[in-house]
Amino acid sequence: MATDERWYDDAVFYAVDVEAFADGNGDGVGDFPGLIDRLDHLDALGVDCVWLLPFYPSPNRDNGYDVADYYGVDDRHGTLGDFVAFVRAADRLGIRVLVDLVVNHTSDQHPWFRRAREDPDSPYRDYYVWVDDPPEWPDPDRGPVFPGEEDTVWSYDEAAEAFYYHRFYHFQPDLNVANPDVRAEIRNVMDFWLRLGVDGFRVDAATLMIDNKGGLESTRLDDPHGVIRDLRRFVARRGDDAVLLAEADDEPDRLADYFGDGDECNVLLNFLLDAYLVAALAERRADPLRRVLDLLPAIPEEGQWANFLRNYDELNLGRLPTADREAVFEAFAPDEAMGIYGRGIRRRLAPMLGDRDRIELAYSLLFSLPGAPLLVYGDEIGMGEDLSLPGRDAVRTPMQWADEPNGGFSPADADDLVRPVIAGGGYGYEAVNVADQREDPDSLLRWFGRLIRTRHACPAIGTGACEVLDVDDPAVFAHRIAGDDGAVVAVHNLDDSPTAVSIALDGDPTVAFGRDGASVRPADDATDGSERARAWRFDLDGYGYCWVRPD
Ligand code: GLC
Repeated sequence: MATDERWYDDAVFYAVDVEAFADGNGDGVGDFPGLIDRLDHLDALGVDCVWLLPFYPSPNRDNGYDVADYYGVDDRHGTLGDFVAFVRAADRLGIRVLVDLVVNHTSDQHPWFRRAREDPDSPYRDYYVWVDDPPEWPDPDRGPVFPGEEDTVWSYDEAAEAFYYHRFYHFQPDLNVANPDVRAEIRNVMDFWLRLGVDGFRVDAATLMIDNKGGLESTRLDDPHGVIRDLRRFVARRGDDAVLLAEADDEPDRLADYFGDGDECNVLLNFLLDAYLVAALAERRADPLRRVLDLLPAIPEEGQWANFLRNYDELNLGRLPTADREAVFEAFAPDEAMGIYGRGIRRRLAPMLGDRDRIELAYSLLFSLPGAPLLVYGDEIGMGEDLSLPGRDAVRTPMQWADEPNGGFSPADADDLVRPVIAGGGYGYEAVNVADQREDPDSLLRWFGRLIRTRHACPAIGTGACEVLDVDDPAVFAHRIAGDDGAVVAVHNLDDSPTAVSIALDGDPTVAFGRDGASVRPADDATDGSERARAWRFDLDGYGYCWVRPD
């Protein structure tokens, strides 16, 4: 494997839920053999790094985020040997692999928890957080993460005769990372997967992992970020150029802390940008994007953002100002069934936007913003959601490979599938699938291939300095990113009416990417006074976009 410590600056990340991706053995559940067979799809698309959602042995009551054994592959997904074969096959294609590190909590079926609850003297007791009497007034900042599905963070355990702490579901007891033995266990887990060849970890619930759990003195860490620094040191030592990509959906003024001085997380999922980007799309104006670029902290040179539009959880709008949040709900989740937890939306992006031109606009914008882009399986063909499924399962339906039974996901009986494949209507597998889009040069899939190739050809976006440009039309977001490898200017029209804006550029721009019809030509009002800068007129269709290299 090529050693390039900063590979993540320009990586296109792609999240795969193994159970919903491809079923290789015909039992209705996705598995590693199925995923190996489909690696050609990721290769053709231009994906650099696959992030695997949890595939570990699990009662699977939270999509595998309830881990019962950190050192294995759930039987439903294959064997550890299949996993190694997958890592090898991905490596041959130059695709890196990140695995989910879910160590804020375990499943209540994990042997540590079983022993902890059965024996007060077990060394595993202090792996978790126990109280005899939960506080009468729960800390408002430490409530259940899934309101409506859980109403407490303290559940009583009959065997232990005590209450245990869980920020997520009651079957996910929180680990006590203030206990050095727990931190040693986490290092062992990381070591195991690094030795099997992974390129790093997506650190689940990093914010909660280092929190003062339950507000108790016994779980308070003197240096919470020291936990992440230790993980990073360990990964750097054992894992060559392996990285930590963290889920830290925290207050804007705390985000920079997760990068430390370049000695904590390498990459952070950019939840803040996501919410404001969706607000800009909903409001059809650039202003929310300008605001979020001001809100996002400066990050150390070693750090990077992973920018995304949707993931496989809810689209969390909780950090938006009320007016923006309401605008998003009104535009994209008009029915109550589309919302979740009072703060989010359980839909995929394609049906939220509804219009092919607007989908292109959204992803073109995403890929042009400072950071590295992340897609979730199915984004590349514009998959929809199934609102008849409970909660977040709506956006976790099986990958649609072809206009074949079960969308080509599995040869099993439809009743035996892990979740139903979306069928019929505008988003069913008959209308939206990989095989058909691969053949069609005008398909969204082929468009994504071009977008990814363009992003790879513009490394300035990953590391350059970003400047928002002033334009006359409030619906247009224009920015310039300049790096060692040149500059990119990108112009995006968030509204559906055609427009033209004028921007001063050094040199003669060449179009790097854009919808047919986007054009750039010298504006009539020639110069802005400086020697070389000259005004250029960008003509854009409704939802039009255009990236140029200014010189
Ligand atoms: C993260 C995951 C989510 C899961 C939760 C609990 O937020 O993204 O899917 O439910 O952690 O592990």
